[in-house]
Amino acid sequence: MSWFLLFLSTIVVVCRANICPCERPEHCQQIREEKDFEVFVFDVGGKTWKSYNWSMVTTVAAFGKYDAELMCHAHSKGARVVLKGDVPLSYIVDQENRTVWITEKINLAKVQFMDGINIDIEQAVEDGSPEFHALTALVKETTETFHREIPGSQVSFDVAWSPKCIDKRCYDYITIADSCDLLFVMSYDEQSQITGDCIAMANAPLSQTLNAYDQYLSMNIDPMKLVMGVPWYGYDYPCLNLSEHGICSIAKVPFRGAPCSDAAGRQKPYEWIMKQVNVSMSGRLWDEKQKAPYFNYKDQTGQIHQVWYDDPQSICPKADSVKSKGLRGIGMWNGNILDYSDEPVARQQTTGMWNALLGCLQE
Ligand SMILES: *[C@@H]1O[C@H](CO)[C@@H](O)[C@H](O)[C@H]1NC(C)=O
Ligand SMILES: *[C@@H]1O[C@H](CO)[C@@H](O)[C@H](O)[C@H]1NC(C)=O
Ligand SMILES: *[C@@H]1O[C@H](CO)[C@@H](O)[C@H](O)[C@H]1NC(C)=O
Ligand SMILES: *[C@@H]1O[C@H](CO)[C@@H](O)[C@H](O)[C@H]1NC(C)=O
Repeated sequence: MSWFLLFLSTIVVVCRANICPCERPEHCQQIREEKDFEVFVFDVGGKTWKSYNWSMVTTVAAFGKYDAELMCHAHSKGARVVLKGDVPLSYIVDQENRTVWITEKINLAKVQFMDGINIDIEQAVEDGSPEFHALTALVKETTETFHREIPGSQVSFDVAWSPKCIDKRCYDYITIADSCDLLFVMSYDEQSQITGDCIAMANAPLSQTLNAYDQYLSMNIDPMKLVMGVPWYGYDYPCLNLSEHGICSIAKVPFRGAPCSDAAGRQKPYEWIMKQVNVSMSGRLWDEKQKAPYFNYKDQTGQIHQVWYDDPQSICPKADSVKSKGLRGIGMWNGNILDYSDEPVARQQTTGMWNALLGCLQE
């Protein structure tokens, strides 16, 4: 009996898979054309994608549950939708396992009418280890398979804000960049390994962020392979102590060899931050050295917190340097965390964040 049900459900899955879920069948066709400038959006689920500025979006990395409506809509706007790819590296050291993984992903992409894959491996890797070589091979083989099986498809790979073994992610950046269409540089979580004073700091300080692009470029990585990722979230740190100069000491939470890290705080969406800043003790403050906004607030228990985040003022100079450095484009983690309600203030803030992606003049 149960084998029969399994058989039936397999038939149902296979049949459904071949039917285009879009109102217009042409929207199931994968996107082939390249735009000059990438706006790469990570979508983590829900329906707020309906409020994205679709005249900008070129790629959506679908990290939430599969949403056929999102795929159809993106295609109607000429934007790609790509799968998420993650796998334990110990598992794909074996060539056969690697091929199985890639075959699974390409079949899924075809069944879901997707336009590529974003490989998001954030595991620690030792330089020269079997995992180091397996990762490079994975990217190369995935790209070859996708380009062959889905013409015009895009394979991207997520890298840390700097190539210098951040979080012990010592990858073969040069070969990986060569082997895929683009690197999404996650220019955030830059306090994941604090070695100096254990204090709250900006998620993505301007000069540190930009210097890291120069490191990537000095490795002879083509600027047209780099997409700058900016944060649409911030960190809320409970302060052990707030000094008279406004310095917030944070708890020591070690991470991958560093004594302190941003794990002492909690990630908060821009939507939350914009409400919280209004009920803060300090109001919005600006750190001239890190070129980032922050504020202090007291919670219901009397505990003082310091919140560091990005807003149009801190994002626009980053976006400007995407253009001046000739990078492929910009993107964010993640597209869903703005306030997309109809409130006039929310609308203004949300438009401001989208427009900041195109640089300071757009603010
Ligand atoms: C969407 O982005 C375009 C630029 O590509 C801009 O001209 C337009 O004003 C934006 N739309 C909204 C609603 O902000
Ligand atoms: C291949 O993957 C399986 C898990 O599905 C794992 O048990 C096995 O060890 C892997 N093979 C190798 C040689 O790593
Ligand atoms: C808290 O900060 C004040 C002012 O900088 C300092 O005098 C005091 O020693 C600090 N307290 C603790 C527990 O670190
Ligand atoms: C925050 O306060 C400003 C200034 O008083 C006000 O204009 C705005 O509506 C408030 N924003 C939110 C999200 O409450």
